[in-house]
Amino acid sequence: MSERIIPVVAERHSLPLPPVNSSLALTPAQPDGHGRLLRDLRISVTDRCNFRCSYCMPKEVFHKDYPYLPHGDLLSFEEITRTAQAFVALGVRKIRLTGGEPLLRKNIEVLIAQLAALRTPEGVPLDLTLTTNGSLLARKAGALKEAGLQRITVSLDGLDDAVFRQMNDVDFPVAEVLSGIEAAQAAGLTGIKVNMVVKRGTNEDQIVPMARHFKGTGVTLRFIEYMDVGATNGWRMDEVLPSAQVIERLRAEFPLVALASSAPGETAQRWGYADAQGAWDASQGEVGVISSVTQAFCGDCNRARLSTEGQLYLCLFASQGYDLRSLIRGSLSDTELRQQIAAIWRARQDRYSELRSQLPPDSATSPARKRVEMSYIGG
Ligand code: GTP
Ligand code: 5AD
Ligand code: SF4
Ligand code: SF4
Repeated sequence: MSERIIPVVAERHSLPLPPVNSSLALTPAQPDGHGRLLRDLRISVTDRCNFRCSYCMPKEVFHKDYPYLPHGDLLSFEEITRTAQAFVALGVRKIRLTGGEPLLRKNIEVLIAQLAALRTPEGVPLDLTLTTNGSLLARKAGALKEAGLQRITVSLDGLDDAVFRQMNDVDFPVAEVLSGIEAAQAAGLTGIKVNMVVKRGTNEDQIVPMARHFKGTGVTLRFIEYMDVGATNGWRMDEVLPSAQVIERLRAEFPLVALASSAPGETAQRWGYADAQGAWDASQGEVGVISSVTQAFCGDCNRARLSTEGQLYLCLFASQGYDLRSLIRGSLSDTELRQQIAAIWRARQDRYSELRSQLPPDSATSPARKRVEMSYIGG
């Protein structure tokens, strides 16, 4: 382990809570400091993972003695559900469970059932989804669906077994993830997405084979620019393959047509497979590109992140969060909890990706950087 890397757990300090204005209405339309409404809550249920993708949990840092959170520090399912309920009252319509690897959290289907029972103020169920590395999916897909999960996103960085084993860095075979995706389809989970992080020089040769494999299967494949998230992955700009080049490579093989965004604040730009007339052939599906590095999408970012131990982060690139766990474990009423979350969201100014280009070129890899890890905060 490099001497300059301080484990995030030891370094964490929470931000002071902004004052609550109890005369402000708690409506499901809370604008932040840039007028962005709160819509999407991403909840990390474990900081552990059985993979060691170098862009997320490099082995040298996340070794066997890494100080993961002790169980008592984790929010319980009841605490998560209560917090989620407060967010729903303030406008959240989509909840994504993440990790680490969320399927490693014991009895995760119990939490899913609790969250599936939540309703918006209009009485509508939430868009409830989960991001997984797929390693346990073949075993768990049925139970997840039964518990009320609506859709699922699987991370998969290549089809070639050797490339995939290198990317996950624990020698995990690609065939098992592919069976997991099939099991999810068979279990009736719809809207399945596959996310592929593209690293120039590592898995860029997998772009076209991945597209070929998932075209026409009902699975939406999305290519993600390798990001400078966290403080441990040794990110370098020259390892980012800009999405424009991904699209160029795909277009050399498949006719593509740009599609309109399907939801406000969407992370991906969508491209549909075109028919001979150049119109979108919906039966062949679509691909997406997520270009956080080359085309920031902070302008309408509606995402809040609840860490494994109940810290609220307002940006993927934040270094500090707000300690909701102390509030939840204190004597706060539900209304007071809502008021406090609303006050935090109203003060939100974060737009890291938009500001990235103005930072000194070496700031992403600077030892002074104390950004939170994605495995802790949730992707
Ligand atoms: P869908 O509703 O399924 O389209 O989900 P989504 O695109 O909001 O979420 P998903 O977790 O699939 O996001 C895919 C990837 O985009 C993540 O793994 C991150 O790499 C990246 N991403 C998601 N949200 C943000 C964000 O707020 N900021 C940045 N910079 N990247 C993000
Ligand atoms: N860059 C881009 N995406 C990342 N993820 C994790 N680390 C990074 C990174 N450095 C995302 C991937 C993965 C999910 C769990 O988190 O999308 O599929
Ligand atoms: Fe685990 Fe996902 Fe991070 Fe890979 S990207 S180490 S699968 S949490
Ligand atoms: Fe949202 Fe921060 Fe990502 Fe910008 S960088 S889109 S503000 S999470």
